[in-house]
Amino acid sequence: MNVLIVGGGGREHALAWKLSQSRKVTALYAAPGNPGMEDVACRVPLQTSGEGIDKIVEFAVKESVGLVVVGPEGPLALGLADRLAGRGILCFGPGAKGARLESSKIYAKEFMDRHHIPTPAWRSFSALDEAKRCLSDLPDAPVVVKADGLAQGKGVIVAKNRAEALSAAEKIMDGRFGEAGRKILVEECLVGEEISLLSFADGKTLIPMLPVQDHKQIGEGDTGPNTGGMGTYAPVSAFSAETARTVEETILRPLRTALRSGEFDYRGCLYIGLMLTSEGPRVIEFNVRFGDPETQALMPLLDSDLFEIMHACAAGRLEEARPPEWRDESAVCVVMASQGYPGEYSVGRVITERPVAEELARDSWVFHAGTSRDARGGLTTAGGRVLGVTARGKTLETALKRVYARVDSIDFREKTYRRDIAYRELTRRS
Ligand SMILES: Nc1ncnc2c1ncn2[C@@H]1O[C@H](COP(=O)(O)OP(=O)(O)O)[C@@H](O)[C@H]1O
Ligand SMILES: [Mg+2]
Repeated sequence: MNVLIVGGGGREHALAWKLSQSRKVTALYAAPGNPGMEDVACRVPLQTSGEGIDKIVEFAVKESVGLVVVGPEGPLALGLADRLAGRGILCFGPGAKGARLESSKIYAKEFMDRHHIPTPAWRSFSALDEAKRCLSDLPDAPVVVKADGLAQGKGVIVAKNRAEALSAAEKIMDGRFGEAGRKILVEECLVGEEISLLSFADGKTLIPMLPVQDHKQIGEGDTGPNTGGMGTYAPVSAFSAETARTVEETILRPLRTALRSGEFDYRGCLYIGLMLTSEGPRVIEFNVRFGDPETQALMPLLDSDLFEIMHACAAGRLEEARPPEWRDESAVCVVMASQGYPGEYSVGRVITERPVAEELARDSWVFHAGTSRDARGGLTTAGGRVLGVTARGKTLETALKRVYARVDSIDFREKTYRRDIAYRELTRRS
């Protein structure tokens, strides 16, 4: 079958790498893809927003694509999956209705309340003075203020006190997020370990993948501003067998019932952002696609044929497919970024890589995120997050040794990365 991947970041590179190993994939296309994907997919210069959506559908029809895998949330919220369904093409990724679980945080909260899925207490507001009145009535304690819509990870402020919460509400509603900030949420602030639990869904059922932990902040020791993610590791021991049972009972079971309720037909990856609190696991948010950089750590651990699973999801036949199998190993992804990110940074820096020993090359991968080719075909930096260097090992320690050895072999001016990825796991064990 011909397969088209939509997107061009590290997540899509990791998915393409894994899909390309399936004997059932005849041609693999990536729109627009990135230079790192050229080894495994044929790049198609199409945009993933606006008119690009029509062009993606046309391309899929013309090239007899049987399955489209959508990486980012944008095209899903714009209804790409619905448009493909209209042309009889299977899509891994939900339609616009299901995508609202991510594109409207208020919708997601209402959905969770309706289906008794545990989530922090919340209230929503469409007028600033109303939000301010509510915040003034609440105790002067931490709360979380969130923009309702898609805000590229910048629409959430964890406020330490009332004053910060009031200014957060003003900031989000001042127009900088456009329509996404027209409504806001004020949420109970929880403490605990954050876990990303991604799952495969086919409209009727849902199968969780391995638990992953992301390091969202730019600075070591989880300090400084939030980024798109500076590194991940899987699996996570904080997600114990007992936690897994509680999550199954209190979250996944009601979620399966909710998915069958007919509100929408959810086929794709459902990313469940969890916080493990002293009162039990709570859902912080849903994403309607694979996480980035969670995917980079998960794909090397997946032992099954990704195409078979994705196809089964898109066809609504997950229960008939062989269940996903995972290696009993650990993986770590370290994001190499441009100095200055998540603020301003330079691009166009030449990227070089020294050859590495064969054993290291076998168990490590360099997934591209923000790279491009210069006129002579050389690789240059083209974004804040440049590369997702990933390694696998029988133990976390081995994976860490390998990943940082691979990172050391790569150079570009003003590179920056965190040296402490997975430190929470190492502390937990010691
Ligand atoms: N209720 C909450 N309590 C504590 N921290 C929270 C809460 N909600 C969100 N956060 C923190 O803010 C981050 C971003 O929030 P999230 O809802 O995931 O929005 P997005 O990923 O769309 O920016 C979370 O990863 C978490 O660290
Ligand atoms: Mg999030």
